[in-house]
Amino acid sequence: MTTPQSTADAPVLAGLELTKSYGTNTVLHNASIAIRPQESLAVMGPSGSGKSTLLHILSGIVKPDSGTVLFRGQPIHTWKESKRTELRRTAFGFVFQAGQLLPELPAIENVALPLILNGMPIAAAKAQAAAFFAPLGISGLEMRRPGEMSGGQAQRVAIARALVARPAVLFADEPTGALDAHTSAEVMRLLRETSRHMGTALVVVTHDSDVAAFCDRTIGVHEGTLVERTAQK
Ligand SMILES: Nc1ncnc2c1ncn2[C@@H]1O[C@H](COP(=O)(O)OP(=O)(O)O)[C@@H](O)[C@H]1O
Ligand SMILES: [Mg+2]
Repeated sequence: MTTPQSTADAPVLAGLELTKSYGTNTVLHNASIAIRPQESLAVMGPSGSGKSTLLHILSGIVKPDSGTVLFRGQPIHTWKESKRTELRRTAFGFVFQAGQLLPELPAIENVALPLILNGMPIAAAKAQAAAFFAPLGISGLEMRRPGEMSGGQAQRVAIARALVARPAVLFADEPTGALDAHTSAEVMRLLRETSRHMGTALVVVTHDSDVAAFCDRTIGVHEGTLVERTAQK
């Protein structure tokens, strides 16, 4: 008998030969990407190059016209909507540029929300959420509403919310797009360190090479295909 092949390096998520068009606009053409567990990966390209489309396909929000999306080897692009929604709630986290927090809820409840939606009792969810404030440098902001925070603080709360359910993959779409350079660097450092500490793979979509430089490697979007760039570290 042969020894079973190690799965340690098997991708947690892979897109294979993905093609997606909107009308006559072919956004992705045979684009392939593999995300290893626990790595941080930047997807870089100019505005309109298809970065968000790729992220939506990988996370099961949008179906590709052709190609395959495998999460832990499972073809999620074939799953029905309810099963993909369940996957997003339990296995994936999302951070966007801004405006993703519920304005009427204090930070602690914003962070606890994914756990509450997954059925955890509120007290337990808040306790689990509270543990994320110190590592992200936002201790003391638990009762603040989003309108009472700076942009950088709000993004750290958003990162805490995206990680609170311990996802396998965290998707961040231009997560620092609304921040100044100094705050952007601090948020990227925390995003990468917290994800790595939790064993969550991080996929950051950005047009900014300074943001991409925080990731283990960078893939460029070029005319609808994905091209590996030089490893940064
Ligand atoms: N739902 C949609 N309907 C029609 N066109 C879309 C849709 N989503 C994206 N596009 C088009 O696809 C291209 C890539 O968009 P997007 O993935 O948002 O790029 P990026 O995130 O790199 O800025 C753009 O030309 C955009 O207009
Ligand atoms: Mg985009």
